[in-house]
Amino acid sequence: MWFSNGLTNACGLAFLGALLLSVVDAKPMPKEGGRDRISINTGWRFYRSEYNTDKLAYDLSRNDYANRTDLTVLKPWILPSANDFIADPAARHRRPSGEPTIGIPFVRSSYDDTEWETVDLPHDWAIKGPFYVGDNVPVGGGMGRLPVHGIGWYRRKVEMTKADEGRSIYLDIDGAMSYSIVWLNGHLVGGWPYGYSSYRLDLTPYLKLGDDNLLAIRVDNPGNSSRWYPGGGIYRNAWLTKTSPTHVGQWGTFITSRSVSKSSAVLDLAVQVENAGETSQKLSVVTDVYILDSATGEARTKVASFPRQTITVAAGHKVSVNASTTVKKPALWGPPPSQSPNMHVAVTRLYNRNNDIVDTYLTDFGIRSVVYDADHGLLVNGERIRIQGVNGHHDLGALGAAFNVRAAERQLEVLQELGCNALRVSHNPPAPELLDLADRMGILIYDEAFDGWQLSKNPNDFHLIFDDWSEADLRAMVRRDRNHPSVIIWSIGNEVGEQTTGDSGAAVARRLRQIVRSEDETRPVTASMNAARPNMPFPGELDLISLNYQGEGIRDTGPYAGLPGISTPPLYLPFHDAFPDKLIVSSETAATVSTRGTYFFPITNWTSAPANYTVGSGGNDTLLQVSDYGLYTAPFGSSPDKVFVAQDNASFVSGEFVWSGWDYIGEPTPYYAARSSYFGIIDLAGFKKDRFYQYQARWRPDHPVAHILPHWTWGADRVGEVTPVHVFSNGDQAELWVNGKSQGRLRRESESVYRFRWDNVTYQPGEVRVVTYRNGKQWASDRVVTAGVPVALRLRADRSAIAGDGLDLSFLTATVVDSKGNVVPQADNEITFTVSGRGGGEIVATDNGDPRDFTSFASRTRKAFSGLALGIVRANRKGDITVTASAPGLARAVVKLTAN
Ligand code: GAL
Repeated sequence: MWFSNGLTNACGLAFLGALLLSVVDAKPMPKEGGRDRISINTGWRFYRSEYNTDKLAYDLSRNDYANRTDLTVLKPWILPSANDFIADPAARHRRPSGEPTIGIPFVRSSYDDTEWETVDLPHDWAIKGPFYVGDNVPVGGGMGRLPVHGIGWYRRKVEMTKADEGRSIYLDIDGAMSYSIVWLNGHLVGGWPYGYSSYRLDLTPYLKLGDDNLLAIRVDNPGNSSRWYPGGGIYRNAWLTKTSPTHVGQWGTFITSRSVSKSSAVLDLAVQVENAGETSQKLSVVTDVYILDSATGEARTKVASFPRQTITVAAGHKVSVNASTTVKKPALWGPPPSQSPNMHVAVTRLYNRNNDIVDTYLTDFGIRSVVYDADHGLLVNGERIRIQGVNGHHDLGALGAAFNVRAAERQLEVLQELGCNALRVSHNPPAPELLDLADRMGILIYDEAFDGWQLSKNPNDFHLIFDDWSEADLRAMVRRDRNHPSVIIWSIGNEVGEQTTGDSGAAVARRLRQIVRSEDETRPVTASMNAARPNMPFPGELDLISLNYQGEGIRDTGPYAGLPGISTPPLYLPFHDAFPDKLIVSSETAATVSTRGTYFFPITNWTSAPANYTVGSGGNDTLLQVSDYGLYTAPFGSSPDKVFVAQDNASFVSGEFVWSGWDYIGEPTPYYAARSSYFGIIDLAGFKKDRFYQYQARWRPDHPVAHILPHWTWGADRVGEVTPVHVFSNGDQAELWVNGKSQGRLRRESESVYRFRWDNVTYQPGEVRVVTYRNGKQWASDRVVTAGVPVALRLRADRSAIAGDGLDLSFLTATVVDSKGNVVPQADNEITFTVSGRGGGEIVATDNGDPRDFTSFASRTRKAFSGLALGIVRANRKGDITVTASAPGLARAVVKLTAN
């Protein structure tokens, strides 16, 4: 059994000013000093070239650089950026003396970049397209058919004021895709290759007084480097952090809790203080703990203080201090609906000899206990919480990889509506703000570092830098994320090839696990396994068993017989027997594929079948669509019906992460001619596929669900044809009527039947209605009718008031309706979104969830897909915004928004 009383953090310095002012019980304080965190997202100049005409390279290990003798290799200057994250002093890197000789003038202040594009961060250079369609293209379906490859240069001036003299000034980049290299005033500062890591570089030695400091950042994004859409460019936030020379180090606090109960909890704190100055400093370290109002970012009541400690930090050194305190009646953090995600903030202050505050550092964290019980699953604060999770890649659909808080929040909101309480950030550390959202919303996070180790999955993927960077990337992830209460599991890898290489692969796992454990002993370390078996050495190295597809079995039932690839019987029990002390979680289940609102006939009689390329097996390789009955899967996958049964037979399993929650760009199995995935329970635009209701029925047992599929608007060719009707419900009986005629009342034959199916219904236009029952009482109902021809559009905004800050978003759904307001389910009218009004409204992107729609995401005109299209609006200032959706021949629709 695995215990963690850990809890957690994030240094939310952004709210520092507001927070300090709002501390309710604040006493008159000594002069606050120290720290500024300044966004440098705006006003960058940007230039991309498809090839490295600048003649620079991190190194020559990429397959396309093999014969390049003309490139200047910069790796020796980049490696030292990892030094703070390499434990063995002997393994740290020494910077070569002098600067590398480079020909390109982009790093010099004098270079005239006025011809370059002006961009703000977060920025994804590829998302607007155009899409590459067809074969033999630079970027194929796997990486989303968008121009992610190439070299990007970003240039911007940064200011050093008189008041900054003598301070330490750092560049903090939350994520840049990929192989970042940074120059300031022509000096190569450092860099970081892995595009999903957050990194810090010290700009202090190269800054000069004034605003003429030229920051130049080069990113290099290789083709064939990813199994999904990576995005391109500086796609997360960028900051300047200015501190006193003596300050709390990068991610320099760690707060854990133990002996957690309703009446009290013990908090343990470690603070790392760094002295970048030239004289030794004697300091007092004081940390107070407040309740955090996570909606406003304000600190409320003070609930505890750590004892003051006095330390001396020699020039150029770091010193860690530890302290403990007790919180009485702690407001615990836990996932809704049964618990509340209460947050705390620790305010750490460093005082100098004169009792002035030289640094103030905030750590958001939560108090909770987690037990990882091999027989009873996950216990949060003593309560069993079934992991009802999904996997998610980092793109935000039509907005691409460029991180946006509201877009991420919307993804999580729709997932919570589904009943989802957990997210696996497959297969890389997320944007830091995603974890802030998860903390605030109470979503459990499976935080993952890598998709591969030394063995490659793609020619230019992480294996090229694994040996040099895996330790640094892992430590960076854990140090950044370990204070977040939402994070409950560390993963060192997804389906790595080393799973099945015996002792050598196990040795790599051991090394990586030890690295994580040396940074955080409170959480289990795992790696997801689709191929390692219970008798292999690999799973023995892990703290918990994380299975991809093997729990429910892979290619083990009739319709999958004969498919190429491994066949595995359900392995929950064999793993449980082999590792009776280790909790089991399914880190990937299902891999069901479908396109929203699409149905092909006949359907399979099985409850799970592979979607292959012939009509009748769920797919249509001309249309590049897969039927939405939710019965068809990737060749190694299983329908939800099959997964649920396997889990019902293994009550010790802690839960699952479905592949996937939302559709994502790239990996369009089974049709690589398309642009985006078919795996989502929710499509790329955020619209619900039918199986949304199948999961909701299981995951929210007390929320009445009844959902009919398919739609009931078919052409003359279907009249009289067998058109199976399926219903998802958490009732125990269901009766279906077609045009008033009962098709029979079905009883859930056993607990393990996850749909009501009337497979012999013949189509007649009209109405289909279902009523479901639970314990003899009416429980839920649904109805679909045959729609008429399209006559109008309907437009709905997810939020009618947004901030006029150029960041906040409203998501508008346009629906094609008939004269009675019914959705026309196969409508594909071309819809144009326009905005007017004083709020500076802008259509940022559109989508419809169709994986083979190659219209640019930036287009304001978008065909409806299965009756729906999405417009995403942002406001650049305060005022009203009128959004209009129009389509030839249809009555248009208007929605009014306010930007505050
Ligand atoms: C898994 C893999 C995921 C995704 C999924 C669906 O094997 O870990 O990244 O590729 O299959 O294809």
